[in-house]
Amino acid sequence: MVVLGIETSCDETAAAIVSDRREILADLVRSQVAAHAPYGGIVPEIAARAHLDHLDSLIREALATAGIGFGDLDGVAATAGPGLIGGLIVGVMMGEAIAAARDLPFAAVNHLEGHALSPRLVGEVAFPYLLLLVSGGHCQLLIAEGVGRYRRLGTTIDDAVGEAFDKAAKMMGLAYPGGPEIERAAETGDPARFDLPRPLLGSPGCHFSFSGLKTALRRTIAALPQPLSARDVADLAASFQAAVADSIADRCTRAIAAFRRRHPRGDTLVVAGGVAANRMLRKRLETLAAESGLTLVAPPQRLCTDNAAMIAWAGIERLRLGLADPLDFAPRPRWPLDPTAPPAAGAGVKA
Ligand code: KG4
Ligand code: ZN
Repeated sequence: MVVLGIETSCDETAAAIVSDRREILADLVRSQVAAHAPYGGIVPEIAARAHLDHLDSLIREALATAGIGFGDLDGVAATAGPGLIGGLIVGVMMGEAIAAARDLPFAAVNHLEGHALSPRLVGEVAFPYLLLLVSGGHCQLLIAEGVGRYRRLGTTIDDAVGEAFDKAAKMMGLAYPGGPEIERAAETGDPARFDLPRPLLGSPGCHFSFSGLKTALRRTIAALPQPLSARDVADLAASFQAAVADSIADRCTRAIAAFRRRHPRGDTLVVAGGVAANRMLRKRLETLAAESGLTLVAPPQRLCTDNAAMIAWAGIERLRLGLADPLDFAPRPRWPLDPTAPPAAGAGVKA
């Protein structure tokens, strides 16, 4: 089975071609960072227009890279949510149109399910597994019990962790995206110099929160001589990174216990998303997993950040179970993986 995957939910236009034998025949991503840069954030209208401008040629390029034509496809998958509605409409309409024209089955893929199933594109990872999804837009702990079957253990009450890295970097005068900048600066820094809070440490449940840490960091920076010295930036970065890692490790410890209660034989912890690139966090998770008798699986970075190969793969997983979607499937800007999970609030932080 060879499936075309389309991803347009945020600020990256992506197209990929993947086979059910785990071959990635093409995997193209066209970033819009430059188009949004003058505005200091993602402008939904600009994103939708850029997807419209690029998607057509990107799909043709993907087919050419794979050395196949539309006639060789066995299915089409497009991200149908969650995300910015303009971009979702562009991707879903394109996917549905190709499926209609070629009489192919269509899979409307939940972007989060794309991330959740990505480790299975790389190797044999059996259900159930525990998933930590950490990126600029997502921050969740989930149990993946099967295709279309997820149990959300925790989510963020305020910022996603990548967002927190980006905002912290900005406060320190570092460039965007902030995560890699902070990691680099932290290499020569003292993580014990500044006593930053570990949000929600020891509190029940598996939710995340980073706004208190952000505020504490802002206050700490304001109390230092300006402009910040290189030493101060390094120590701030190291202290911030350590606080984030402690907080995530604490949340994961609780999630592992919950996972084990539910699935005593479950043996895998997967980490995905852009923040999974952070070596300190990875090391912490490796130790944590080993202590709990779990294996840590981290898909390669290219599959961790937003891409269309994971969308094509999720399409394959769904289509081979006969879970095709109708060609009038409407995109969903909000689309939780676990519809039974209550909205995250409380813990005294923010409703
Ligand atoms: O998954 P991703 O590429 O895009 C989406 O969020 O959709 O994740 C990007 C995020 C950014 O917030 C970036 O700062 C963060 O991942 N990031 C990192 C590192 N590399 C990327 N955060 C911490 N340490 C890193 N090495
Ligand atoms: Zn994503």
